[in-house]
Amino acid sequence: MADLWQNAMDHGVAAARRAGEVVREALKGDRTVMTKSSSVDLVTQTDQKVEKLIIQSVKEKYPTHRFIGEESVAEGEPCVLTDEPTWIIDPIDGTTNFVHAFPFVAVSIGFSVNKQVEFGVVYSCLEDKMFTARRGKGAFCNGEPLQVSDQKDIKQSIIATEFGSNRDPETVERIFSSMRNIVSIPVHGVRGAGTAAINMCLVASGCVEAYYEIGIHVWDIAAGSLIVSEAGGVLMDVEGGEMDLMSRRIVAANSRSVAERIVKEIDSYSPQRDDAPLTQ
Ligand code: IPD
Repeated sequence: MADLWQNAMDHGVAAARRAGEVVREALKGDRTVMTKSSSVDLVTQTDQKVEKLIIQSVKEKYPTHRFIGEESVAEGEPCVLTDEPTWIIDPIDGTTNFVHAFPFVAVSIGFSVNKQVEFGVVYSCLEDKMFTARRGKGAFCNGEPLQVSDQKDIKQSIIATEFGSNRDPETVERIFSSMRNIVSIPVHGVRGAGTAAINMCLVASGCVEAYYEIGIHVWDIAAGSLIVSEAGGVLMDVEGGEMDLMSRRIVAANSRSVAERIVKEIDSYSPQRDDAPLTQ
């Protein structure tokens, strides 16, 4: 049977590659920084420009499709996942890295239908690595198949996570508490690339055994989540239930046993959901 969404995926890959060129070019010049929800939640004109470029190119080809884009939502667009074909876009995942020229920056494009991610594209544009996954057809990096690590012993594992951009003291305490618990298992190490999308691609590539975070958004994880599951990995909520794309909580691991072990150590909390009604 013909693959209904393959052309859309090819379009997504081409759009991500073009976006990556814009990001690389922008790194050579001034990067004016603005802030969003807090003084450490950054955005630049490049984030906004890249998102507009991607949305415009998709709209020309698929005028009826919907969008959830990080910067459009920041400007007041609704963040609602319906059953309609929806492009879920983070134009620059790792904006803080981009601002500081820390060399991990990704363009992330997920595509969902009936609330299920059909394909995911993560372009790690400074490494020139194009990660892709199509539901039921595997995950790839620059065309090479990806497979999660087969290490099932958490004590022989590297776990990726991030501090995120919430500096509320209680949240910071919970983040440190979870990290302290995990470091003390002990694991081999804890790492963070500064982008959720690339952390998930590291799980899919077998370089780290798991990634978890509370506070990420649907645009950070839509594409990466499919890349992890298509590479043989497991997705879970931080309290062990099914992962919910809009809940801002995720564990992505090479195996159920590693995911469940991490869940035991997470000091969990529930940030406002991405699809919470807007308050005036
Ligand atoms: C952020 C990155 C970061 C994660 C944050 C995200 P952005 O995305 O993925 O690693 O810790 O939770 O919001 O703002 O750079 O697109």
